[in-house]
Amino acid sequence: MADTNTLKFGNHDYPVMSGSVGPQVVDIRKLYNETGMFTYDPGFTSTASCESALTYIDGDEGILLHRGYPIGQLAEQSSFMEVSYLLLNGELPSKGELDEFTHTITRHTMLHEQLATFYRGFRRDAHPMAIMCGVVGALSAFYHDSTDINDPHQRMIASHRLIAKMPTIAAMAYKYSVGQPFLYPDNSLSYTGNFLRMTFGVPAEPYEVNPIVERALDRIFILHADHEQNASTSTVRLAGSSGANPFACIAAGIACLWGPAHGGANEAALNMLREIGTPDRIPEFIARAKDKNDPFRLMGFGHRVYKNYDPRATVMQQTVREVFDALKVSDPVFEVALQLEHMALNDPYFVEKKLFPNVDFYSGVILSAIGFPTTMFTALFALARTVGWVAQWNEMISDPAQKIGRPRQLYTGPTQRDYTAIGQR
Ligand code: ACO
Repeated sequence: MADTNTLKFGNHDYPVMSGSVGPQVVDIRKLYNETGMFTYDPGFTSTASCESALTYIDGDEGILLHRGYPIGQLAEQSSFMEVSYLLLNGELPSKGELDEFTHTITRHTMLHEQLATFYRGFRRDAHPMAIMCGVVGALSAFYHDSTDINDPHQRMIASHRLIAKMPTIAAMAYKYSVGQPFLYPDNSLSYTGNFLRMTFGVPAEPYEVNPIVERALDRIFILHADHEQNASTSTVRLAGSSGANPFACIAAGIACLWGPAHGGANEAALNMLREIGTPDRIPEFIARAKDKNDPFRLMGFGHRVYKNYDPRATVMQQTVREVFDALKVSDPVFEVALQLEHMALNDPYFVEKKLFPNVDFYSGVILSAIGFPTTMFTALFALARTVGWVAQWNEMISDPAQKIGRPRQLYTGPTQRDYTAIGQR
């Protein structure tokens, strides 16, 4: 280190930049021009890909802030609509601003009617995430008037459309899989209440939204709203960096989120807890997770950034109890989860590697109690994360330093050689 403001490499000094909080970064943009070298960082474990003012995580301390506000306070005191406004606009809304924002989102909940026919092209047993990727990507074929990314007004309309239509799209994916008729949105309900009705209601009878379930699900949406430069958000940014329209970019984010190492972990975590079944089998699964010759991992455990308890998991654990009490349900899987957590947190393997429960460890238990099938879990994650993706995408487009994302590589293939005719190989 040359001094506190630059990092010396060879004969060159590279500026060290500071954010408002968190690790400093070395600006290596001129590195290749000046030294002919690239940096090598598979998985981007040490690379800041952009500047962002949205979300801050301190993984060692287990802190997550949206626009400066701790996730625990937002989950306890706020609503998903309010957090959405905060992420998009940078400040908490006044009462009037929140009412106007909620009104706008509510007025965009319907889908183009022709999209209902689009669903019928899918098999009934299609995974909801497969449907979500397809339908969200297809929005760009239906809403041409909000695909010009250079027009801030169109960007805003597309953002509102995506946030508003995602519950409708996810609920329709569910309805299609169970063979029930689609339900149109009911704008007299809240964002989350409307989603519950479109998912679990039927046209034949009125649906009453349970306020405790509505609040619990709204809180789950808050917990998933944004999470800094994770894999799916980086995918959205990378797709958007080429100038692709927002619907295509969010479809790319959904595809990335689907993987079991990312958003698919909630589904995998509940499946694992059900497979364990009873607390007496926990030691067997912990032993498997520690065995280097066994690919099995404790799903819902560990995180690239959190090396402490994921603050979202704390809220999730409390919410399980509230939902169980409200619905008067009990599920042995919760007891398995609590005991598994306890045993893992007292096991040297997990302690040394700093592996703690993440947001997905308890979310499946709650969603299952509410009535969602496991295949819908990641679709709910996508629904809630859409606001984060959209806010990050808007931030990127408005950033004057924005360029098309184009990582480099360490090439290890053959050097140049001459083509041989097929008969001579
Ligand atoms: N169970 C057992 N061992 C684990 C686990 C786990 N869940 N997670 C990490 N480890 C071990 C690894 O084997 C590795 O051990 P080693 O150093 O001896 O090789 C060490 O801990 C570090 O793990 P990495 O995979 O290198 O850490 P990375 O940061 O790349 O991975 C990840 C993070 C993908 C989340 C990982 O912890 C994992 O696979 N967890 C299970 C899946 C999961 O819950 N994903 C949800 C993430 S949260 C989200 O997306 C919302």
